[in-house]
Order: sequence, then C-alpha cells, then structure tokens
Amino acid sequence: MRRTAIDSNDPIVIRKAWPADSRGIYEACIASIRAGGGTHYSPEQVEAWVQRISESSFEKKIPHLDFLVAESADSKIVGFAALNPTNRELEYIYVHPDKLKTGLGRRLIEAIEARANIRRVRRLHLVGSLNAVGFYELMGYRTDRTFVRDLNGVQIPCTMMSKEL
Ligand SMILES: CC(C)(COP(=O)(O)OP(=O)(O)OC[C@H]1O[C@@H](n2cnc3c(N)ncnc32)[C@H](O)[C@@H]1OP(=O)(O)O)[C@@H](O)C(=O)NCCC(=O)NCCS
Repeated sequence: MRRTAIDSNDPIVIRKAWPADSRGIYEACIASIRAGGGTHYSPEQVEAWVQRISESSFEKKIPHLDFLVAESADSKIVGFAALNPTNRELEYIYVHPDKLKTGLGRRLIEAIEARANIRRVRRLHLVGSLNAVGFYELMGYRTDRTFVRDLNGVQIPCTMMSKEL
C-alpha cells in the first residue's frame, strides 16, 4: 500500500481508504461528531446525527468515492474525507477530536480539491453542518442556501456551500 507524508516531520499520512478501514473511519466519525457537533446542535440533534452513521455504509461507499483517510504513526485513523465525483460533492470531512485544530482538516480538504481538479470538477459542493461553516468559509466556500434536514423526525439545520476550484 502506497503512503505519502506531505511533511516528513508530520507522522500523519493521508492515503486512499479501503473497505477494511471502515471500522476505524466509523469510530473517528462518531468521536468527531460528538466532540464537534455540540457547539451548534442540541444533544438530541447530535444523537440523531450519530445514529445516521454506520460502519457498513462506509464499507459500501468507499469503492465508489475518492475516499481518503488520515492515519497516525500508530495506525489509527484520525480523519477522513471523500469526494463524490458524480455529483461533484465533498461528501465527508471529519477529524478525530485528538487532532482538531492541528491543520489536518485543511490538509484533507486540499487533498480532496486536488482530486477534484484531476477529475475536472469546476465547482465543488457540500452540505455543511453549522459547526463547520466557519472552517469551510476559511477554506474559501460560500453559502448557497440553508435548509433543514429531517433525521428520523429530528430537525437539523444545515448549509449548502460551494467553491469554484
Ligand atoms: C470541521 C473540521 C473538519 C475542521 O478540522 P480541523 O482539523 O480542526 O481544521 P484545521 O485545524 O485544518 O483548521 C484550519 C483553519 O480553520 C479553523 N477552524 C477549524 N475548525 C473551525 C470551526 N469549526 N469553525 C471556525 N474555524 C475553524 C482553524 O482555526 C484554522 O484556522 P487558521 O488557518 O486561521 O489557523 C473539524 O472541526 C471536524 O471534524 N468537526 C466535526 C465534524 C464535522 O462537523 N465535520 C463536517 C461535517 S459537514
């Protein structure tokens, strides 16, 4: 398996994901939501978001997306992001709470944008949770519209954003 470190002093590598990574991706995702979601959502909304995530859905989706994971030196998945090239969407970006605000989210989104450029995606879209809007804005994304997602009867306000690449 090929691994590339962007900075040789940084032990976290970003690599292609495989279906066997699904468990680690799932665990990082749940921890990330629980740590990050509470700034803008109620405990009930965070729980509805968590319940929507499943290990098997990652396993099924990985082969169909440009799916990247960030792996620490001790082989733990500490972040991930995925491009859906069909609908030109940044489908996931999550950083484990241990690595928040260390620049990993930026590395992941830049890696996804590089993939999008290779695939000649001109405008990249995403559905952003409110807690992440400030991050996306810093990365150059702008709000197209806001809407409310219904997750099993729980209303979750979200923001549709996009960026010209
Ligand atoms: C959003 C998320 C991916 C950002 O990852 P991160 O690794 O902490 O971000 P970085 O460290 O690369 O930050 C890059 C810049 O954005 C800023 N930033 C990071 N998170 C931010 C936030 N939630 N709001 C505002 N600014 C933020 C950083 O301070 C940094 O600014 P600087 O370059 O001026 O220093 C991460 O907070 C996360 O996983 N959140 C929970 C899951 C989630 O909501 N995912 C998005 C689903 S739509």
